[in-house]
Amino acid sequence: MKRRTLLIIIVAAALFGLVVAVAASFLHDGLSSRATPTKFEIMLARNARHLATPASARLAQNPLLVSAEDLRDARLHFADHCAICHANNGGGQTMIGGGLYPKPPDLRLPETQNLTDGELFWIIENGVRFTGMPAFSNSGGHGGMLDSWKLVHFIRHLPHLTATERIEMERYNPKGPDERAEEQQENDFLSGAAPGRKPESQVHHQE
Ligand code: HEC
Repeated sequence: MKRRTLLIIIVAAALFGLVVAVAASFLHDGLSSRATPTKFEIMLARNARHLATPASARLAQNPLLVSAEDLRDARLHFADHCAICHANNGGGQTMIGGGLYPKPPDLRLPETQNLTDGELFWIIENGVRFTGMPAFSNSGGHGGMLDSWKLVHFIRHLPHLTATERIEMERYNPKGPDERAEEQQENDFLSGAAPGRKPESQVHHQE
Protein backbone atom coordinates (compact mmCIF):
# COMPACT_ATOMS: atom_id res chain seq x y z
CA MET A 1 0.00 0.00 0.00
CA LYS A 2 1.29 3.47 -0.83
CA ARG A 3 2.29 5.64 2.11
CA ARG A 4 -0.19 8.32 1.11
CA THR A 5 -3.09 5.89 1.10
CA LEU A 6 -2.01 4.62 4.52
CA LEU A 7 -1.91 8.18 5.84
CA ILE A 8 -5.39 8.90 4.49
CA ILE A 9 -6.73 5.74 6.15
CA ILE A 10 -5.15 6.71 9.50
CA VAL A 11 -6.52 10.25 9.36
CA ALA A 12 -9.96 8.98 8.31
CA ALA A 13 -9.97 6.46 11.19
CA ALA A 14 -8.96 9.18 13.68
CA LEU A 15 -11.71 11.50 12.41
CA PHE A 16 -14.25 8.68 12.57
CA GLY A 17 -13.18 7.98 16.17
CA LEU A 18 -13.59 11.64 17.02
CA VAL A 19 -17.07 11.84 15.47
CA VAL A 20 -18.15 8.69 17.35
CA ALA A 21 -16.77 10.05 20.66
CA VAL A 22 -18.49 13.42 20.25
CA ALA A 23 -21.76 11.80 19.11
CA ALA A 24 -21.67 9.38 22.06
CA SER A 25 -21.09 12.28 24.42
CA PHE A 26 -24.07 14.22 23.01
CA LEU A 27 -26.34 11.17 22.99
CA HIS A 28 -25.44 10.43 26.58
CA ASP A 29 -25.65 13.93 28.07
CA GLY A 30 -27.51 16.03 25.51
CA LEU A 31 -26.19 19.56 25.73
CA SER A 32 -26.22 19.63 29.54
CA SER A 33 -23.26 21.35 31.14
CA ARG A 34 -23.72 19.22 34.24
CA ALA A 35 -21.88 16.38 32.51
CA THR A 36 -18.17 15.74 32.89
CA PRO A 37 -16.04 15.55 29.72
CA THR A 38 -14.43 12.17 29.03
CA LYS A 39 -10.66 11.79 29.43
CA PHE A 40 -10.43 11.68 25.63
CA GLU A 41 -12.27 14.99 25.26
CA ILE A 42 -10.10 16.61 27.95
CA MET A 43 -6.96 15.39 26.19
CA LEU A 44 -8.16 16.77 22.84
CA ALA A 45 -9.11 20.12 24.38
CA ARG A 46 -5.79 20.50 26.21
CA ASN A 47 -3.84 19.64 23.05
CA ALA A 48 -5.87 22.11 21.00
CA ARG A 49 -5.27 24.82 23.60
CA HIS A 50 -1.57 24.03 23.69
CA LEU A 51 -1.33 24.28 19.90
CA ALA A 52 -3.32 27.52 19.88
CA THR A 53 -0.94 29.21 22.34
CA PRO A 54 1.90 30.91 20.45
CA ALA A 55 5.28 29.34 21.28
CA SER A 56 6.68 32.75 22.28
CA ALA A 57 3.86 33.15 24.83
CA ARG A 58 4.52 29.68 26.26
CA LEU A 59 8.18 30.52 26.81
CA ALA A 60 7.57 33.94 28.38
CA GLN A 61 9.28 34.33 31.75
CA ASN A 62 7.64 35.84 34.82
CA PRO A 63 9.16 39.36 35.10
CA LEU A 64 8.41 39.45 38.85
CA LEU A 65 10.47 37.70 41.51
CA VAL A 66 8.32 36.03 44.18
CA SER A 67 7.79 38.32 47.16
CA ALA A 68 5.54 37.85 50.19
CA GLU A 69 3.79 41.12 49.40
CA ASP A 70 2.96 40.22 45.77
CA LEU A 71 1.85 36.75 46.81
CA ARG A 72 -0.58 38.25 49.32
CA ASP A 73 -1.87 40.74 46.72
CA ALA A 74 -2.46 37.91 44.28
CA ARG A 75 -4.08 35.73 46.93
CA LEU A 76 -6.66 38.39 47.82
CA HIS A 77 -7.17 39.16 44.13
CA PHE A 78 -7.78 35.45 43.51
CA ALA A 79 -10.29 35.42 46.40
CA ASP A 80 -12.14 38.33 44.83
CA HIS A 81 -12.03 37.41 41.10
CA CYS A 82 -11.29 33.72 40.68
CA ALA A 83 -12.49 31.81 43.74
CA ILE A 84 -16.15 32.06 42.67
CA CYS A 85 -15.32 29.32 40.12
CA HIS A 86 -11.97 27.92 41.29
CA ALA A 87 -12.52 28.01 45.14
CA ASN A 88 -10.01 29.67 47.48
CA ASN A 89 -7.83 26.56 47.55
CA GLY A 90 -7.89 26.20 43.74
CA GLY A 91 -9.69 22.83 44.00
CA GLY A 92 -12.60 24.02 41.84
CA GLN A 93 -15.36 22.72 44.14
CA THR A 94 -17.76 25.65 43.90
CA MET A 95 -21.41 26.05 43.03
CA ILE A 96 -20.59 27.92 39.81
CA GLY A 97 -17.65 25.66 38.91
CA GLY A 98 -19.77 22.53 39.33
CA GLY A 99 -22.27 23.82 36.78
CA LEU A 100 -19.74 24.64 34.06
CA TYR A 101 -18.74 22.46 31.13
CA PRO A 102 -15.87 21.84 31.18
CA LYS A 103 -15.45 22.30 34.94
CA PRO A 104 -12.54 24.27 36.36
CA PRO A 105 -9.71 21.79 36.95
CA ASP A 106 -7.96 21.43 40.34
CA LEU A 107 -5.20 24.01 39.85
CA ARG A 108 -2.99 22.25 42.43
CA LEU A 109 -2.57 19.09 40.34
CA PRO A 110 0.30 18.38 37.93
CA GLU A 111 -1.91 18.95 34.84
CA THR A 112 -1.94 22.66 35.74
CA GLN A 113 1.34 22.91 37.64
CA ASN A 114 3.22 21.43 34.65
CA LEU A 115 2.07 24.25 32.38
CA THR A 116 4.77 26.89 31.89
CA ASP A 117 4.52 30.29 33.60
CA GLY A 118 3.97 31.77 30.14
CA GLU A 119 1.05 29.41 29.47
CA LEU A 120 -0.61 30.21 32.80
CA PHE A 121 -0.18 33.93 32.10
CA TRP A 122 -1.62 33.53 28.59
CA ILE A 123 -4.66 31.68 29.94
CA ILE A 124 -5.35 34.34 32.60
CA GLU A 125 -4.96 37.18 30.09
CA ASN A 126 -6.87 35.60 27.19
CA GLY A 127 -9.26 33.13 28.81
CA VAL A 128 -10.14 29.79 27.22
CA ARG A 129 -12.63 29.99 24.39
CA PHE A 130 -15.75 27.73 24.58
CA THR A 131 -15.31 27.39 28.34
CA GLY A 132 -16.30 29.43 31.40
CA MET A 133 -12.73 30.72 31.82
CA PRO A 134 -12.90 34.48 31.13
CA ALA A 135 -10.13 36.69 29.72
CA PHE A 136 -8.91 39.08 32.40
CA SER A 137 -6.73 41.47 30.41
CA ASN A 138 -8.24 44.93 30.82
CA SER A 139 -11.25 43.67 32.75
CA GLY A 140 -12.44 46.03 35.48
CA GLY A 141 -10.60 45.59 38.77
CA HIS A 142 -7.80 43.57 37.19
CA GLY A 143 -4.75 45.82 37.26
CA GLY A 144 -3.07 44.80 34.02
CA MET A 145 -0.34 42.34 33.13
CA LEU A 146 1.54 42.60 36.41
CA ASP A 147 -1.53 41.39 38.27
CA SER A 148 -1.65 38.36 35.97
CA TRP A 149 2.04 37.60 36.61
CA LYS A 150 1.43 37.87 40.37
CA LEU A 151 -1.43 35.39 39.95
CA VAL A 152 0.95 33.01 38.17
CA HIS A 153 3.16 33.05 41.29
CA PHE A 154 0.07 32.46 43.43
CA ILE A 155 -1.04 29.47 41.31
CA ARG A 156 2.41 27.96 41.97
CA HIS A 157 1.83 28.59 45.68
CA LEU A 158 -1.65 26.98 45.72
CA PRO A 159 -0.44 23.44 46.57
CA HIS A 160 1.17 24.91 49.73
CA LEU A 161 -1.67 27.24 50.77
CA THR A 162 -1.98 27.33 54.58
CA ALA A 163 -5.26 27.29 56.52
CA THR A 164 -4.55 30.81 57.85
CA GLU A 165 -4.09 32.11 54.30
CA ARG A 166 -7.31 30.44 53.16
CA ILE A 167 -9.29 31.86 56.08
CA GLU A 168 -8.02 35.36 55.29
CA MET A 169 -9.19 34.85 51.69
CA GLU A 170 -12.74 34.16 52.84
CA ARG A 171 -13.04 37.79 53.93
CA TYR A 172 -12.28 38.87 50.37
CA ASN A 173 -14.74 36.54 48.62
CA PRO A 174 -17.54 38.49 46.91
CA LYS A 175 -20.57 38.73 49.22
CA GLY A 176 -24.23 39.58 48.76
CA PRO A 177 -25.99 42.35 50.76
CA ASP A 178 -27.47 39.90 53.31
CA GLU A 179 -24.10 38.46 54.18
CA ARG A 180 -22.62 41.95 54.51
CA ALA A 181 -25.43 43.05 56.82
CA GLU A 182 -24.99 39.95 58.98
CA GLU A 183 -21.25 40.57 59.17
CA GLN A 184 -21.84 44.19 60.16
CA GLN A 185 -24.21 43.09 62.94
CA GLU A 186 -21.65 40.61 64.23
CA ASN A 187 -18.94 43.27 64.21
CA ASP A 188 -21.21 45.73 66.02
CA PHE A 189 -22.01 43.11 68.61
CA LEU A 190 -18.35 42.24 69.10
CA SER A 191 -17.34 45.88 69.41
CA GLY A 192 -20.03 46.40 72.03
CA ALA A 193 -22.37 48.65 70.04
CA ALA A 194 -25.96 49.02 71.25
CA PRO A 195 -28.00 45.94 70.32
CA GLY A 196 -30.58 46.31 67.58
CA ARG A 197 -28.71 49.08 65.80
CA LYS A 198 -29.23 48.77 62.08
CA PRO A 199 -26.20 48.05 59.90
CA GLU A 200 -24.91 51.05 57.96
CA SER A 201 -26.30 49.79 54.64
CA GLN A 202 -29.87 49.76 55.98
CA VAL A 203 -29.89 53.18 57.64
CA HIS A 204 -31.87 55.74 55.66
CA HIS A 205 -30.27 59.12 55.78
CA GLN A 206 -32.89 61.88 55.50
CA GLU A 207 -31.00 65.10 54.99
C1 HEC B 1 -16.63 32.00 35.61
C2 HEC B 1 -15.72 30.98 36.09
C3 HEC B 1 -14.24 31.25 36.15
C4 HEC B 1 -13.59 32.34 36.70
C5 HEC B 1 -14.21 33.56 37.36
C6 HEC B 1 -12.18 32.07 36.55
N1 HEC B 1 -11.98 30.86 35.92
FE1 HEC B 1 -10.17 30.03 35.50
N2 HEC B 1 -11.13 28.48 34.57
C7 HEC B 1 -12.50 28.29 34.51
C8 HEC B 1 -12.76 27.08 33.75
C9 HEC B 1 -14.13 26.51 33.44
C10 HEC B 1 -11.51 26.56 33.36
C11 HEC B 1 -11.26 25.29 32.52
C12 HEC B 1 -10.99 25.69 31.09
C13 HEC B 1 -10.58 24.51 30.24
O1 HEC B 1 -11.12 23.43 30.42
O2 HEC B 1 -9.68 24.69 29.37
C14 HEC B 1 -10.51 27.46 33.90
C15 HEC B 1 -9.14 27.29 33.70
C16 HEC B 1 -8.17 28.06 34.30
C17 HEC B 1 -6.75 27.80 34.19
C18 HEC B 1 -6.11 26.68 33.38
C19 HEC B 1 -5.93 25.46 34.22
C20 HEC B 1 -5.63 24.22 33.43
O3 HEC B 1 -4.88 23.35 33.92
O4 HEC B 1 -6.15 24.07 32.33
C21 HEC B 1 -6.12 28.76 34.94
C22 HEC B 1 -4.63 28.91 35.15
C23 HEC B 1 -7.15 29.62 35.50
N3 HEC B 1 -8.38 29.16 35.09
C24 HEC B 1 -6.90 30.70 36.33
C25 HEC B 1 -7.88 31.61 36.72
C26 HEC B 1 -7.60 32.84 37.43
C27 HEC B 1 -6.24 33.28 37.92
C28 HEC B 1 -8.80 33.49 37.58
C29 HEC B 1 -9.06 34.84 38.20
C30 HEC B 1 -8.28 35.97 37.73
C31 HEC B 1 -9.84 32.63 36.99
N4 HEC B 1 -9.23 31.51 36.48
C32 HEC B 1 -11.19 32.92 36.99
C33 HEC B 1 -13.45 29.11 35.07
C34 HEC B 1 -13.22 30.32 35.68
